[in-house]
Amino acid sequence: MSRVLVGVSGGIAAYKACELIRGLRTREHEVRVATTQNALRFVSSLTLQALSGHAVRSELFSLSQESEISHIELADWADVAIVAPATAGFLARIAHGMADDLLATICLALRAPLIVAPAMNVNMYRHPATQANLDVLAKRGVRIVGPDRGELACGWEGEGRLVAVEELLGAVEQALDPGTYQGEVVLVTAGPTAEAVDPVRVLTNRSSGKMGFALAEQAARRGAEVILVAGPVGLPTPYGVQRMNVESAAQMQQAVMDALDRATIVIMAAAVADYRVAERAREKIKRETQDVLTLELLRNPDILAELVPRKGGRTVVGFAAETERVLENARAKLERKGCDLIVANDVARQDTGFDVDRNAVWILGPGGNDVVEVPAAAKQEVAARILDRIRQVRDA
Ligand code: CTP
Repeated sequence: MSRVLVGVSGGIAAYKACELIRGLRTREHEVRVATTQNALRFVSSLTLQALSGHAVRSELFSLSQESEISHIELADWADVAIVAPATAGFLARIAHGMADDLLATICLALRAPLIVAPAMNVNMYRHPATQANLDVLAKRGVRIVGPDRGELACGWEGEGRLVAVEELLGAVEQALDPGTYQGEVVLVTAGPTAEAVDPVRVLTNRSSGKMGFALAEQAARRGAEVILVAGPVGLPTPYGVQRMNVESAAQMQQAVMDALDRATIVIMAAAVADYRVAERAREKIKRETQDVLTLELLRNPDILAELVPRKGGRTVVGFAAETERVLENARAKLERKGCDLIVANDVARQDTGFDVDRNAVWILGPGGNDVVEVPAAAKQEVAARILDRIRQVRDA
């Protein structure tokens, strides 16, 4: 759990700071909020307080606010600070070192990394003054996230939208963990595989790929080079990740084996189809021709079991999707497949597992006795915990 200071300056996107605070709390960060006076015209102090769990600071010279936590204490407290939205006026103040309000003063006193997420009208953003201020800040090591392009609240279209909350969360986590995976090449498989029956039909499963994609994203944020072998899913490629799309188990096996030499860590999060159709029909199977259709299925190669003998110094992590006796089955799978860690999840649960945004897992270590439980949380958070455990095992 880290300490995140969220700064809010006065723009229409200030309401999105509420989602950012919620997202940070969900990922179990401690959050404190400091705003400009104008920010409170857009979003109430009460909302920010309820979401963060702490009184909000907005005034530099308020005796009651200063006695709670002084602005210098707040700057010292933070492991990272993010100002979202950052208005043109706020960026100008900190670019020039002006300490004329609480938020700018905190930013001057801050020693932790500072992230700013600009949001404003497109013409204000493009103005040479704003661009020069952003240049100054970037050169000073301030991380600038966005803005995005799109429809703006002021009616204009163009650059100036606050980036998505996920991107803000990503920037915070990257700043908190700049590189515990530096030098690692992480190969992740994700999603289901699809085994063709005929030119239009496939056999597949309910895996959404979200867990594998979250692992790829988190590993990239920690400085790893990431190769993501993805089955057929519609998820966007996480920032900084090299993606290879595959359909069938055979294609996934080929892609994994091709990338294996480069990898130092392999995480097999994909739900590989265990069987494929023995003979794929060349033409679409017509309904009239048969009342009962029997498909002959052949067992697919077990990619994980096959790569273990070639593992060398690599750390190999498998997943166990179970619907009953989860730990017992996962222990047996760890043993049978010979990987270093196995991540077990109960895919029969409605709230976690396949095709939802949350997961709850057990990470089983060598021998199956060493079990780390990760209670239900966002898949990004679960991915972070899995990577923490992999790091421990590699460093042991
Ligand atoms: N796996 C694999 N190749 C397969 C099947 C599974 O590499 N043909 C990998 C998965 O990516 C996962 C692990 O093996 O990391 C366990 O997958 P799971 O589907 O839980 O287990 P199975 O080996 O298929 O066993 P069972 O279906 O009997 O539970």
